[in-house]
Amino acid sequence: MGKPRIYMHDVSPRDGFQNEPVFIETADKVNFVNALSQCGFAKIEATSFTSPKAIPALRDAEALMHQIERVPGVQYTVLIPNARGAERALACRIDEANLVMSVSETHNRANLRMTREQSMAQLGQIIEVLEHAPVAINVSLSTVFGCPMQGDIDESEVLRLVDNFARQGVTRISLCDTTGMAYPSQVRRICRKAKANYPQITFTLHFHNTRGLAQSNVLAAIDAGIDRFDAALGGIGGCPYAPGASGNACTEEVVHMLELEGFDTGVDLNRLMQVSAMLPALVQHDVPSQILKAGHRLVTHPAPAFISEIGQAQQAAI
Ligand code: COA
Ligand code: ZN
Repeated sequence: MGKPRIYMHDVSPRDGFQNEPVFIETADKVNFVNALSQCGFAKIEATSFTSPKAIPALRDAEALMHQIERVPGVQYTVLIPNARGAERALACRIDEANLVMSVSETHNRANLRMTREQSMAQLGQIIEVLEHAPVAINVSLSTVFGCPMQGDIDESEVLRLVDNFARQGVTRISLCDTTGMAYPSQVRRICRKAKANYPQITFTLHFHNTRGLAQSNVLAAIDAGIDRFDAALGGIGGCPYAPGASGNACTEEVVHMLELEGFDTGVDLNRLMQVSAMLPALVQHDVPSQILKAGHRLVTHPAPAFISEIGQAQQAAI
């Protein structure tokens, strides 16, 4: 029997770059996405079609989508918050529209400047339009596992939103832990419930490592039958409208762990590390990735010279 397959999505060009204070030149972003495309990801979230006032770092979304080289087998997805974003994205040959709203009323208002009802209505209209386009639809639900302003999120609210989109025929939903509030038993419980109630939906889990729990949460989600994960190269990322947000689950750390645990991620870790090594120069700061610093577990170091002499002095003395 082959190894169980886990599908990896890299979201660093969107969730990562959106949060960087220094604008990364379009040509550099294009090179970066092209390099990521060679690593074996099932999906790459390349950019977002948001208001350039809200997310100036990604104001070059059209140019990027027109310039990247698409690799067959990789799906190129983009984040879309509203109807204007959908219109712009549709002009750019996307494979998937990743519509976004928050389970938390407070975060939805802070991030999208709409009530949840307004977001649901607007996303509903986009879904109707996209049904006739050759574009897949994913809905990303933010703050599923907790909101940095509201605290705990009622699990029935998560299911209510999943239900709302399932009724509209959506078959791909991402459950997002926007500020790293998820913990393993909660992840297992919510994933099991969501999968049992909506077997027709392919769920993706999107974790942030704000409190060091991203890797544990990935394993908990796999326990519950999840096989798709978002992660960001270097562990960069975060939502600028969620106080305290920090980096995504780090792609190379997740891939490194899953390969050791006997899963086939389809991702070439050595190649991935070379791309990750581009990041500090691009974002002009160190990145959280521990694997980038330490190397994979069998990267060994030279032993100190003195150990070969240990025992010899005693031998001589005898
Ligand atoms: N793309 C480009 N421009 C957009 C746009 C979009 N998707 N949506 C709105 N705009 C423009 C409008 O044309 C208008 O421009 P003007 O000031 O020149 O007339 C301006 O933005 C305000 O439009 P409005 O509809 O009032 O939007 P808003 O200011 O209430 O912002 C969002 C709503 C959703 C567009 C904005 O909050 C947003 O982009 N949020 C995304 C946040 C995000 O990506 N967070 C991280 C990921 S979770
Ligand atoms: Zn995120």
